[in-house]
Amino acid sequence: MNNVIKLFCEDTIAPLGMDKKNPQFSWKVENCKGVKKQTKYIVYVAEQIEKLKSRDLLHGFMEQVSKQNRTTYEGEPLHSCQTYYWKVILEYDHSVVIQSEVESFETGFLENSCWKAKWISPSKEKIQPNLPQIHEDGYAIAVALEDMKLGKVWRIRGEFQLPDKKIKKARLYATAHGVYLPVIDGARVGSLELAPGHSNYHHQLAYQIYDITRMMTPGVHTFGALLADGWYAGCIGFYGDNCQYGTQLSLLMQLHVTYEDGQIDILFTDEGFEAEQSAYEYGDLMVGEKLDARKIKKDFYLPKYHGTKKVHIVDEEYENLFAQYHNSIEVLEQIAPVALCQIEKGEWIVDFGQCIAGKVRIQLSQNYGQEIRIEHSEVLDKEGHFFNNIREPYKNQIDIYICAGTQNEIYEPMFTYHGFRYVRITGLEGELKKADIEAIVIGSRMARTGEYYCSNDAFNQLQKNIFRSQLSNMISIPTDCPQREKAGWTGDVQVYADTACFNENVKEFFRKWLSDVRYSQGEDGQIPIIVPWIPGFERAFEGITSSAGWSDVIVMLPWVLYQHYGEREILEENYHAMEKWLEYQRYTAENENPEQLQGTDDGCKEHQKYIWNTGFHFGDWLTPSASINLQSGELEMMQSAILTMDIVPTIFFAMSCKKMIIISEVLDKKERVQYYTNLLEHIKQAFHYEFIDGTNILKSNLQGVHVLTLQAELVDGVAKQNIQKRLLELIHMNGDKLDTGFLSTAFLLDTLVEMKQEELACKILLNEECPSWLYEIKQGATSVWESWQAILPSGQCSYLSMNHYAFGCVGDFLYRYFGGLKCISPGYEKICFSPKWNSILTSSSVKYNSIFGNITCEWERNAGSLDMQVNIPANVEAEINLPELGIHIPVDPGQHSFSFKLS
Ligand code: BGC
Repeated sequence: MNNVIKLFCEDTIAPLGMDKKNPQFSWKVENCKGVKKQTKYIVYVAEQIEKLKSRDLLHGFMEQVSKQNRTTYEGEPLHSCQTYYWKVILEYDHSVVIQSEVESFETGFLENSCWKAKWISPSKEKIQPNLPQIHEDGYAIAVALEDMKLGKVWRIRGEFQLPDKKIKKARLYATAHGVYLPVIDGARVGSLELAPGHSNYHHQLAYQIYDITRMMTPGVHTFGALLADGWYAGCIGFYGDNCQYGTQLSLLMQLHVTYEDGQIDILFTDEGFEAEQSAYEYGDLMVGEKLDARKIKKDFYLPKYHGTKKVHIVDEEYENLFAQYHNSIEVLEQIAPVALCQIEKGEWIVDFGQCIAGKVRIQLSQNYGQEIRIEHSEVLDKEGHFFNNIREPYKNQIDIYICAGTQNEIYEPMFTYHGFRYVRITGLEGELKKADIEAIVIGSRMARTGEYYCSNDAFNQLQKNIFRSQLSNMISIPTDCPQREKAGWTGDVQVYADTACFNENVKEFFRKWLSDVRYSQGEDGQIPIIVPWIPGFERAFEGITSSAGWSDVIVMLPWVLYQHYGEREILEENYHAMEKWLEYQRYTAENENPEQLQGTDDGCKEHQKYIWNTGFHFGDWLTPSASINLQSGELEMMQSAILTMDIVPTIFFAMSCKKMIIISEVLDKKERVQYYTNLLEHIKQAFHYEFIDGTNILKSNLQGVHVLTLQAELVDGVAKQNIQKRLLELIHMNGDKLDTGFLSTAFLLDTLVEMKQEELACKILLNEECPSWLYEIKQGATSVWESWQAILPSGQCSYLSMNHYAFGCVGDFLYRYFGGLKCISPGYEKICFSPKWNSILTSSSVKYNSIFGNITCEWERNAGSLDMQVNIPANVEAEINLPELGIHIPVDPGQHSFSFKLS
């Protein structure tokens, strides 16, 4: 057999600095031919490759008669900062044995005591907290860029000497309170962006690991970093509040040099380090960055530099540190401009052809002191002028570079990123050529797992846009948009998670964020609307912490991850937090009643216990008919919340309760299954009493509320039929166009399919009028917009973001429905190919790299036949189900072609 076994330690190929004492090992067999099922695995772990040969010399050994393609390390305790080697031997169908190549992994700090480095701060001075004032219209009062009080960017250095010995390997372990760029001997170390990324720093802070072997030689060296505010102290609050985690920046670096003779030198940040203000005047994630290249000191990071101040040791913790050996922020792509035009002397607009998250890299040959401004935007206005679609202050997205006056200076911001397609550059002398500028896409690096194409070009563009918005918003945490808030809005993840899991391997990325979610959970069980939850959000949302459909991410996301990756552990580690959230919903429903309902009859009082109708909720946010005034084009964003917040919370209470029944079943918690089953029954009855009128229809005229009610299975019998009928009426009355918001859109098409209204579902998908997915495509969208009305048919642009993945949740429907790939049991262990071949497409191709390997389903409808090709990895049970052709056949692992006759 021509097999390639890919080996993953903690979901990563050959991780550097892996810090789990009992890591998970997993494997995927590619091109596995002629075998069906793994019947046994053996995993060998050793300190040296040679020791893998003999069982007696192993460090770890795991053997199991099992089809599972992962296992947890068992063996001698692993040591810190050590390279280990491992391989697997797999038995298939009780007979075929295949062996992997040897793979390695290197541990990081398995104990906190490994940290010898001291936290050093460049200045004793604390950063001044800045609380922008709020205008009565709810926006922060504008402040000119020049008047903003932005934090300094520091350069920090220390010196050390290495003996004249042969070096085997060298590693740098580093992190910061702030965002740091590591430097050794004047050269940037590694290629990570915006390290250490964002997390709930009070509870967990990532450190990065760099292979610096090639930079180390005997003799004198310097090491240090540039250090900016980042998420730690920059203006990331809703209104631009800074210092969200602390008021003093600090740096932690530790260097391990291992010599051929086995000796190790450990060098680290301490009181001997020096710091001064760098050539960067400021570097803020939201506002932008300013670099005065005239102030760059090339010799700062060279030995014997004088004139700096000593750093200060600060008493910061080590307990919250964890190793980041995957999913770090990196450059993902470089994009050349598609067009560039001079507006007037010195002013240029550059179009990169697509909305991205990142920055530009520009080459400049300008006079000494020439100030170049780079402004970023996602759209041009109706007349084609540069249009800044963010109106809030402290979100300027402007980078400024003051030239040193040399030839071919390269400027690329290092302490900020932006959401943009266009940049306006001002201050240039002479020509700007296409070759002088490129866009740099940054994001958390994850493996691409899913791809979908079909015979409809507009759908293909839609898929591209969805993926683009996903890349733009997976930047250390899942964000809402890269240009305005860059915030971990929980509702956006809740609706988009399925599509995200298809497109990329987001397992560990979301798992880490879920721990941020758990750390952000209140004592009372509330899960915040944004995670990490910071004081600036508390100030902005005045008492609103959680919201139905947003906070339910704690229940829904682990479930989605379990479906895609098959790991029960994900449910286990979040279960307690889920229960706390459910209890918050239950307690609030029972104990808080709206004023107008006090003193009502007993029946009503009894039901009120299960109706969650107090507090603020975003509801079916951005329902098109309720979020914009079509006459004036003015946004009325709160309207959909106001119209739906009485009913949506109870629906989500039921939805989460229903999920808790299944999750408790999976985790074998019988008593809890019973508890949630009873609770759900009460919610259903109360819902009926409260929201369904005498004629068995819903007391609401919004499509989304109907969709959510049906999806939550809150009604049956006549009420269900009437609500389904009413939903169709509402859609027809709207010209067969959707009118669903953030929470219901993900379910709209599936609900129609379940109602056997497939034609209508396709009509909605194919619609090109506003609001619809293809309306955006027709308007030339290159990413998914926050609202379908972000650009109105009149061409009028709004201040909405053009790069929000939430409505991209339709991606999941496209590959499931037309592509036909359906996950029947967790981890795609059982799948079904059931494509919609007899509808609006003539061909379709779905590829998904599952935990077991590549699954594909490609079909083409020809004159007399439906031709299908499928690929199924070993361990996966599959069937083809084409009811229209009377075909229900099981298919073995491997590649198969079929030609089904069409009459
Ligand atoms: C964000 C959303 C978020 C919403 C809450 C917006 O400002 O950009 O994506 O979910 O607020 O309704």
